[in-house]
Amino acid sequence: MDKPKVVLGVSGGIAAYKACELLRRLTESGHDVRVVPTESALHFVGAATWSALSGHPVSTEVWNDVHEVPHVRIGQHADLVVVAPATADMLARAAHGLADDLLTNTLLTARCPVVFAPAMHTEMWEHPATQENVATLRRRGAVVIEPAVGRLTGVDTGKGRLPDPGEIFEVCRRVLARGAAAPDLVGRHVVISAGGTREPLDPVRYLGNRSSGKQGYALARTAVARGARVTLVEANTGLPDPSGADVVHTGTAVQLREAVLKAAADADVVVMAAAVADFRPAQYVTGKIKKKDGQEPAPVALVRNPDILAEVSAERATPAQIVVGFAAETDDVLANGREKLRRKGCDLLVVNEVGERKTFGSEENEAVVLAADGTETPVPYGPKEALADTVWDLVSARLG
Ligand SMILES: Cc1cc2nc3c(=O)[nH]c(=O)nc-3n(C[C@H](O)[C@H](O)[C@H](O)COP(=O)(O)O)c2cc1C
Repeated sequence: MDKPKVVLGVSGGIAAYKACELLRRLTESGHDVRVVPTESALHFVGAATWSALSGHPVSTEVWNDVHEVPHVRIGQHADLVVVAPATADMLARAAHGLADDLLTNTLLTARCPVVFAPAMHTEMWEHPATQENVATLRRRGAVVIEPAVGRLTGVDTGKGRLPDPGEIFEVCRRVLARGAAAPDLVGRHVVISAGGTREPLDPVRYLGNRSSGKQGYALARTAVARGARVTLVEANTGLPDPSGADVVHTGTAVQLREAVLKAAADADVVVMAAAVADFRPAQYVTGKIKKKDGQEPAPVALVRNPDILAEVSAERATPAQIVVGFAAETDDVLANGREKLRRKGCDLLVVNEVGERKTFGSEENEAVVLAADGTETPVPYGPKEALADTVWDLVSARLG
């Protein structure tokens, strides 16, 4: 079988050296990669590196090997074009359809999925011109990965850092796995909660649960690869931020509610995958509760936490907003799930059986997705990403 053909566009940012690592990962995992750098990119990493690592000639302009018409052929034959790093200038030229070098010609002739991984200083990223160019590219179907937050060129830190090459590679792998299918969540804002809340009892103790957050993170990563703008509201997962998602870190149910409601205000989809504690200690004791000789411990009174899933379902930002819940059940799994779907008022409910060695913390999951219209979609035991993709398939069909 022919190797999948990937065009790696590299534009002139300080992070160009990281694209060597992305190139390596792509070639070593069986992809035929053609590197198309811009003239500026060659100030950072030379043509010899790109050529030797890819095994293909490298050119920045349309005037080499003209008999092969590279300005048309490279794009036409690609299964995926990924531009990493994508400079502010590259995003502008791509958004405006310029064709003044080989990479921009390639972007105009490619009919395959296109992924941009922007990297620049925070000011350049936040400038309305850049944001409008990104919105334009997304509207046209490109996957634009949100930059990471961290160290930039020099001493600056902020949003604008190129995500880890391994993470960009994973986005490419997921996009390629979907074949020629256009990324179906492009232009959509999805909010996902993940992890388990911790409800403090005193400065050292809390009521918590076993949720690892892995299912929510799988939902975030797959949504990024399908082109969505993703806000991930996590609680106590300890997992590294997935690339391309805006991550909000919370701890308690009250904090998670506030973050979810804020992000949901302009969201197309809200997925509540977090295990939110139903109850919290009625009183927070400011000093550590001590055990006293000969005395039984005082009972811990609990109060109810807000029901975030029911609240988001009842007070949708728009009538078209889709709300997905998760139900972790130990007994009468389906019957309890159907009852919960009715009670919460969400569109889809992912029901899975949980236990000490089931689902929580594992890389796999098995579930049934119940829909408000009565359809039920069983998802066989498999990677959490497969369940995530089924959820997005069902959401995508309902977004229309
Ligand atoms: C040291 C240095 C680092 C740069 N880093 C970036 C960057 O990370 N992102 C960016 O958008 N532009 C960056 N620039 C500016 C671009 O190189 C410049 O806009 C150039 O015209 C981009 O051309 P290209 O998009 O054709 O590659 C940098 C420039 C210099 C001199």
